[in-house]
Amino acid sequence: MSRIETLLAAMTCEEKIGQLVMATAGYAVTGPVLASDATEGVRAGRIGGMLNLWGAEHAHAIQRMAVEESRLGIPLLLGFDIVHGHRTIFPIPLAEAALFDPVLWERTAREAAVEATRDGLAVTFAPMIDVARDPRWGRIAEGPGEDPWVAARFAEAKVRGFQGSNLAAADSLVATAKHFCAYGAATAGRDYASVDVSERSLHEIYLPPFQAAIAAGCAAIMPAFNDIAGIPMTAHVALLRDWLRGQAGFDGVVISDYNAIAELVPHGVAGDLVEAAALALKAGVDIDMMSNAYSRGLPMALDRGLISIHDIDEAAFRVLTLKQRLGLFDDPYRRGGAGTIDPSAERARRELARDVARRAIVILTNAGVLPLASGAQRIAVVGPLADARADMRGSWSAAGDANDPVTILEGLRAALPHCEIAYARGVDIESEDVSGIGEAIDACRSADVILMCLGEAASMSGEAASRADPVLPGRQRELAEAVLDLGRPVVALLSSGRPLMASWLVERADAVAATWFLGCEAGNAIADVVTGRFDPTGRLPVTWPRDIGQSPIFFAARPSGRPANPADHFTSKYLDMSVEPLFPFGHGLSYTRFALSNLRLSAETFRPGDDIVASVDVVNEGSRLGEETIFLFIRDVVASVARPLLELKGIAKIKLAPGERSAVHLSIPASAFSFLGLDFRPIIEPGRFELSVGTSADRTNLITVSVQATAG
Ligand code: GLC
Repeated sequence: MSRIETLLAAMTCEEKIGQLVMATAGYAVTGPVLASDATEGVRAGRIGGMLNLWGAEHAHAIQRMAVEESRLGIPLLLGFDIVHGHRTIFPIPLAEAALFDPVLWERTAREAAVEATRDGLAVTFAPMIDVARDPRWGRIAEGPGEDPWVAARFAEAKVRGFQGSNLAAADSLVATAKHFCAYGAATAGRDYASVDVSERSLHEIYLPPFQAAIAAGCAAIMPAFNDIAGIPMTAHVALLRDWLRGQAGFDGVVISDYNAIAELVPHGVAGDLVEAAALALKAGVDIDMMSNAYSRGLPMALDRGLISIHDIDEAAFRVLTLKQRLGLFDDPYRRGGAGTIDPSAERARRELARDVARRAIVILTNAGVLPLASGAQRIAVVGPLADARADMRGSWSAAGDANDPVTILEGLRAALPHCEIAYARGVDIESEDVSGIGEAIDACRSADVILMCLGEAASMSGEAASRADPVLPGRQRELAEAVLDLGRPVVALLSSGRPLMASWLVERADAVAATWFLGCEAGNAIADVVTGRFDPTGRLPVTWPRDIGQSPIFFAARPSGRPANPADHFTSKYLDMSVEPLFPFGHGLSYTRFALSNLRLSAETFRPGDDIVASVDVVNEGSRLGEETIFLFIRDVVASVARPLLELKGIAKIKLAPGERSAVHLSIPASAFSFLGLDFRPIIEPGRFELSVGTSADRTNLITVSVQATAG
């Protein structure tokens, strides 16, 4: 028998169930607060994992209780939500997605893993790879945006970064891909609300990122809180067992979301905790995070015959196997045992945070006011996000210190020491108090340029933070309009976890930038971009609506039999608004401008198994060095199932000096042209495809050629 089988054979039923229980530690300023029953449960072997505890000393202390004081000495899984950094906080994932750079996505995850494992942690509940197309949903902030291809690349990069090449290494962290699945399609954008998507949408949009995470070796998966058409994901046998473990070949551990198993009762599919526990276990959920359903319900589920000891053994085996893969049996104190902190590595990590943050900034509009003119000048900085240190961390701030981030005001002052910078908050983020607007206007009157730092509080996106009307909160619009009425050059910097509905601001400000929540180096990164020390390269990973009434709005829409045509009444349009977004997916300006031309393909026809290389010339027509992102889309013009108007299949980046011309080559396999046919099997149907390249998903600004698929 294997080591795990031998151990399992020696375990009591209670100890086996204990391996399926993950309890939380509270965290006070002085460190983790462990409920008394938690430490007692660890010593008794009734708890197999803990979350929300970090710090090598604390981790080792709780680990010693398990290893040296319990009967079988089985080490604990110690997990935490390290979503965009651990102590060094990187930009929120939606901002990081704007880089369209898998190399940097992986690097930030790797650095987070180094910091987290140094704090004794072995599991992160990340990456969050929920495709999201509704800005009302607060958790759009935590994911990679609207596109499944991008989400898949993001998933792969994060799994590689967190887990490294050897899960048993001291700096490797188990990646938990979450939330499985379709969580981003919550009804009306309300978090935790029911989801009802078609089987086709499941397979075309929401499952591919998880397939990619699994292919990258992801060792854990977390089911989403939501139901899909009445079947809660935590009890979804067809998706958790048949698809995830069957079709997708996942052999890792399924960790429930927080209290989610117990919530099968309010979901209306379980009469009590016992039934909830049985449903989740039978569906393949291995670990119960904080609901007590397994510890209290499974013994009675056994008695009622709802489950068998085999079901428990199966789950316990997977959990013990994961602990073995992590090397916890060999050395439970390996994580957190590293020596002194290397200052140069700390500095490099901080510089990475700054580099990723500035690359995440998306310049939405710019009438020439950016980059700021060099030389001494009077700058006014107003708005509630200018000096909002803690908010710069965004929604999942992990072990990031609230006092750590560089504020926008600090970053500007450090970058422009010769400028007179006047600051006035004006209004708070959410309050109705407008008494400070006068002072802000006074600060702006003599300014050569005004920077308005507007947006949301970090708590207004993320979990349980849906907004029905995601506009600028409080009385910020009143402040902004008073500033704009001065008629001076105005730059609006939007800190948010989602696209904000602000068409009026875009129409009036001289420049608008999406600065999201950029983490510990936010202020320096923003200063790097607005001063022109760094040419902005961020591109929107989500479509930016004109108004929430357009939501959900995304580029990969299906054609409709009556495509919107303003000139034709009976077409798919609004009476009161354009169907076009304010800014399309992929939109973002640099300080120069690029022109694409001469798209050509390596072949005009292809068969299954071929590769197609698309080449396009790019020239920098501006006066500054710059970097552009080129998107490659396809469209299957006629197919047995109507295909989206655009499907993203590749990206490439190119950096060019002023006047420089070069070519970009994007290679895509024939398989990229396949889709799930009527029978849900992948197929490349012979016929004409359109292949397009462009700098965004704006279909009026793409270069398109045809290519023909021929039978195999
Ligand atoms: C939360 C979140 C999940 C997180 C977990 C542990 O409710 O839904 O993303 O990993 O609980 O904090």
